[in-house]
Amino acid sequence: MSITARLDAATALVMARAMGGADAPRKLASALHYAVTPGGARIRPTILLSVAMACGDDRPALADAAAVALELIHCASLVHDDLPCFDDADLRRGKPSLHRAYSEPLAVLAGDSLIVLGFDVLAEAAGADADRALKMIRVLSKRTGMPYGICAGQGWESEAQVNLSAYHRAKTGALFIAATQMGALAAGQDAEPWEELGARIGEAFQVADDLRDALYDAETLGKPVGQDAAHDRPNAVSAYGVQGAIRQLKDILGGAIASIPSCPGEAMLADMVRRYAERMTPVAPVLHQTAARG
Ligand code: IPE
Ligand code: IPE
Ligand code: MG
Ligand code: MG
Repeated sequence: MSITARLDAATALVMARAMGGADAPRKLASALHYAVTPGGARIRPTILLSVAMACGDDRPALADAAAVALELIHCASLVHDDLPCFDDADLRRGKPSLHRAYSEPLAVLAGDSLIVLGFDVLAEAAGADADRALKMIRVLSKRTGMPYGICAGQGWESEAQVNLSAYHRAKTGALFIAATQMGALAAGQDAEPWEELGARIGEAFQVADDLRDALYDAETLGKPVGQDAAHDRPNAVSAYGVQGAIRQLKDILGGAIASIPSCPGEAMLADMVRRYAERMTPVAPVLHQTAARG
């Protein structure tokens, strides 16, 4: 089965259970579905399953649960990130952000519910292998909360002085580290050697996101652009310029390939990183139009 088919099937099962029946509040149930479906690029769970496959994928049901759990946490983080108290964004994945489509209380509750659901999915999957599931729960909680997770990343936005790489590492890198480490753990491998690959892909991804925020339009991205400048957020384009950020993106991804731990699927993972590198780099016409900014 393809990675996409695995993710679709596993997500549909989890969401059907999470939304409950007539005895659960229907608007919140609908909001949960709205936050997760049809979803975005699903890069984190794709990386997770790719790493699990590169390591043998001997417990596919556990790997699928881990992939869904990780994507649920990511979806929750976007719902909360768009709220007026954070980025106040009206658009997400080409549709109204959740608080615009439903309400702020339902967006807070949907985000909270998805976070709890993510951990519940892993706990439920523990029947397949409790030791691996517990290790994955620890990795995911570390990369979601404080001091190393998304909460820490968003917390940096309330500080007067921000270290750009600490901010990026926690805000975005954290879930990419969770992706590579949980993929390895799901297949019974040690997590530690996989941290660097996740951190590098995550760092590159945030630099690419900063470039897109500065160079693209909202219709192409399906979310508001120019947000880093509008909110005066530290970002790779203001720190290094467009061309400097692109150079940095390439350097980081080169390092990512070199950091892939030795495993049966090493070559396949190197190909995956190369494909992401192509997709992340802004396309030539955009660069041409905006060359003056770099
Ligand atoms: C957006 O992540 C948030 C960042 C960390 C930059 P994605 O670009 O992966 O969002 P979706 O899931 O594809 O919409
Ligand atoms: C979102 O970062 C990262 C998290 C939700 C933790 P941004 O605010 O930079 O991402 P977008 O542009 O809204 O997707
Ligand atoms: Mg934000
Ligand atoms: Mg945002």
